[in-house]
Amino acid sequence: MAKTIDSDELLQQATPLQHQHSHEIQPYGQLIRMPIGLDEEACRESAENLNQLLADTMTLRDLYKKHHWQAAGPMFYSLHLLFDKHFEEQSELVDAVAERIQSLGGIALAGAHDVAETTLIPRPPKGREVVPAQISRLLHAHEVILKEARTMARLADDRDDAGTNDLIVGSVIRTNESQVWFLAEHAVDVPLVRVK
Ligand SMILES: [Fe+2]
Repeated sequence: MAKTIDSDELLQQATPLQHQHSHEIQPYGQLIRMPIGLDEEACRESAENLNQLLADTMTLRDLYKKHHWQAAGPMFYSLHLLFDKHFEEQSELVDAVAERIQSLGGIALAGAHDVAETTLIPRPPKGREVVPAQISRLLHAHEVILKEARTMARLADDRDDAGTNDLIVGSVIRTNESQVWFLAEHAVDVPLVRVK
């Protein structure tokens, strides 16, 4: 006798399973050994340092979006575009740094609460600031990142972690230095029309 198809059972198979929970498969701070020829301490130190760099880069990225929305004044249009360009470039760095942490066997910070607890960049006000204050805030955030990035690059090099060193020097440091230049030129008090 042919088996009858139970339509309720079929519908159940097609229904999305929701509200499922699991224990963590890797607690934060614990390393998975990846076959990349680096010793465990090198991977651990680089992953820890990169998580600090990640939290600060995510914070700077979000500062750029805040200022992209909240800029005001005669430079609004060009700053609105510049801040968004820098936001996009910082977003690429966030992804590259996070994926490097995973490649080393670590866990990349991801949640806003964890980023807020970790970052060394001062918290901005919820409200709006004038453009010169926005620029000063961004310049300070860049400098926090550049100082720690140079130290981290040196430490990675000391442990033969050339991949981390290359990412920090070739991407993080170069991008941040270039963005500082574009910002800093807006903070130079030169006459707009007539020589003083
Ligand atoms: Fe926008």
